[in-house]
Amino acid sequence: MEFLAYAVIAYLLGSIPSGIIVGKLGYNLDIRQHGSGNLGATNTFRILGIKAGIIVVTADILKGTIATALPLVFDAGIFRLGVGLFAVLGHTYPLFARFKGGKAVATSGGIFLGINPILFAIMVGSFLVTLYISKYVSLASMLTGIIATIASAAFHDWTLFIVTAIVTVFVFYRHWENIKRIKNKTEPKITWM
Ligand code: G3P
Repeated sequence: MEFLAYAVIAYLLGSIPSGIIVGKLGYNLDIRQHGSGNLGATNTFRILGIKAGIIVVTADILKGTIATALPLVFDAGIFRLGVGLFAVLGHTYPLFARFKGGKAVATSGGIFLGINPILFAIMVGSFLVTLYISKYVSLASMLTGIIATIASAAFHDWTLFIVTAIVTVFVFYRHWENIKRIKNKTEPKITWM
């Protein structure tokens, strides 16, 4: 019962569309009508620049991290990971944005920051390296999921491993359009790195 209450709170927290809020309040613009149409941090960086992008990526990460901190009473990682996943669901299918949300990357990262900061650091490192090499944020996000899944096995925490694998499959699913664009060579590359 307690888990359900935390899950609902986490879902609502994840549903807060930071990209839309920052776009509308700071720039009088709906981020969903520009660029890739996604409300996530990548599109915010792309359309609104570095300041707005940093605010949105931080907020989206924190949604996952705060969600894992909610059920500290349970202590066990499995409950905290479970609650964190509801924040990811909220971020991707947000109640406050007609259920059309982000691609699960930043908020999932936030879960791992809350549960295992070393794994999170590995994710940030692999994201930056794969982004530097490929120049595709989407590809870097997906490859980071694979690397994180492999790396999570090193902690001998099989719940963490399974959740990381599930999140990675979900990240691939959410990037289906990006995969098609990469194949067609129409996916935009970053130019600043
Ligand atoms: O995290 C989302 C990113 O991997 C891709 O975003 O806007 O290029 O579809 P976007």
